[in-house]
This record gives sequence, structure tokens and C-alpha cells, in this order.
Amino acid sequence: MIEIKNLNKYYKNNHVLKDINLKVEEGSTVALIGPSGSGKSTLLRCINLLETPTDGEIYLDDIVVNAHKITKQSIHEVQQNTGMVFQNYNLFANKTALENIAEALIVVKKIPKKEAFKRSELLLEKVGLSDRADHFPSGLSGGQQQRVAIARALAINPKVILFDEPTSALDPELVDEVLQVIKNVAKEKITMIIVTHELEFARDVADKIIFLADGVIIEENNSKDFFNNPKEERTKQFLERFRRV
Ligand SMILES: Nc1ncnc2c1ncn2[C@@H]1O[C@H](COP(=O)(O)OP(=O)(O)O)[C@@H](O)[C@H]1O
Ligand SMILES: [Mg+2]
Repeated sequence: MIEIKNLNKYYKNNHVLKDINLKVEEGSTVALIGPSGSGKSTLLRCINLLETPTDGEIYLDDIVVNAHKITKQSIHEVQQNTGMVFQNYNLFANKTALENIAEALIVVKKIPKKEAFKRSELLLEKVGLSDRADHFPSGLSGGQQQRVAIARALAINPKVILFDEPTSALDPELVDEVLQVIKNVAKEKITMIIVTHELEFARDVADKIIFLADGVIIEENNSKDFFNNPKEERTKQFLERFRRV
């Protein structure tokens, strides 16, 4: 389970995350939605300590992080246990699909090469890309690259996978194949937090929806009630605007 308590983040005088409290149950999927600039990426980056929170606590199962007591060791421990999928895939350009996945196992998990490649093959199969193992990122479509990135995130067997707008950079016709892979991952009961603007997908995949605006959690609810019966005016406006697009 992930729990975040009283998390605050400032960039100089800009108070970007304001007293965030949230729980993600083991094996559940949370969709984090909200307008651009509301702090969604910053929240994900604070959870895996790519950014240093200014104040607050983060619990990743038995790993406890206090913003005031972050050490190299705690950063390492957190990053060994979190998978991250970025908008722009972030694959190594000079490595094949298979090598990109194996790298995570060899470097992060210190798994012997042979074993790492064997496991990577299984992961590629899981995202439907066994026939692309020897392709470099430049020879893959955006959707395929993102599927490799998802396999890579899965490889380290993380406590949580954080997705930051995983389909925003894709051509529209490639969005569905990536969303389908994420849905399959969700079915395996891997804990996930997904930042997305794909509201229909969020409704289908997430157990819980969290609406963030101006660094504040405005509303959270189970997926059905969130969309059918939003309570806050701000949430209603946001959903209206999206439905019109
Ligand atoms: N590295 C940074 N340095 C300074 N300000 C930042 C940085 N990253 C984000 N911000 C600011 O934090 C706020 C929230 O940004 P972000 O988390 O990227 O929002 P979102 O992902 O919801 O669009 C914005 O005002 C943004 O300008
Ligand atoms: Mg963002």
C-alpha cells in the first residue's frame, strides 16, 4: 500500500502541492486527473523522489520517507521499488527493445545477464512485442516504444508503477494499443497511479479517481461515483469541459 501524508512541495515561492493526503490500496489503480499545471507530475516525481518534497511523509509498504530525512540510501531504495512510465518513453536510443528491458534488471536489480535477458523476453511477450526484440527505438512506433517502456517498468517488480500521461505524445491511432496494455497490467493487481487525460480510460481502469487542481485534492471517489455524481463545482466544470472536446 502507498500512503502519502501532508505532502507539500514548493518551487521557490510557488506552493505547488498543498498538504496532499492520499492512500492507494495494494493492487489497486488510481487515476490522477486535473488541469495542466495543477501539480500532477510533481506529485508523481515526489513519490519516487525524482523531486524532493518540501514537507510530509511517503509510505511505500515498509519503506518510510520523511521529507526532512531524505538520504541517498532512501532515494535508492524508493527508486528500486517504483517503476515510472513517462510521456516520451525515455528509452535508450542505442539499445534494442530487449536490451532496454534487460538493462533495468542488470543495473537496478543486479540480476545476471543471461537470466535478465530471459526474463526480458517474457516481458516483451506480455506487451505483445516478441517479434520486435532486436529493434532499436527508432525502428519502433511510438505505441511500441511505450509498450517497451511499460515492460521495463514491470521488469523490476516494483511496489508501484507511476504513469505520467503515457499516451499524450502518441498519434491518436496508437493510443488504444497502449491503453490496452495498461489495462492488462491493472488486471494483474499491480499497484498503479496513472496521470491521464483519457477520461473514458480512467473510468474503465481505475478503482479510484483523484481530481487535483492548483495543488489541492479537490475530490476523490470510486470511479463510478466520481463520474456519475461529482460533488464539487470545480470537478463538474472540469468534466464538462472535457466532455465537450
Ligand atoms: N522543476 C520545476 N521548477 C520550478 N517549477 C516547476 C518545476 N516543475 C514544475 N513546476 C511548476 O509546478 C507547477 C505544477 O507543475 P506540474 O507538476 O508539471 O503540473 P501538471 O503535471 O499537473 O501539468 C507549475 O506551476 C509548474 O510551473
Ligand atoms: Mg504533467
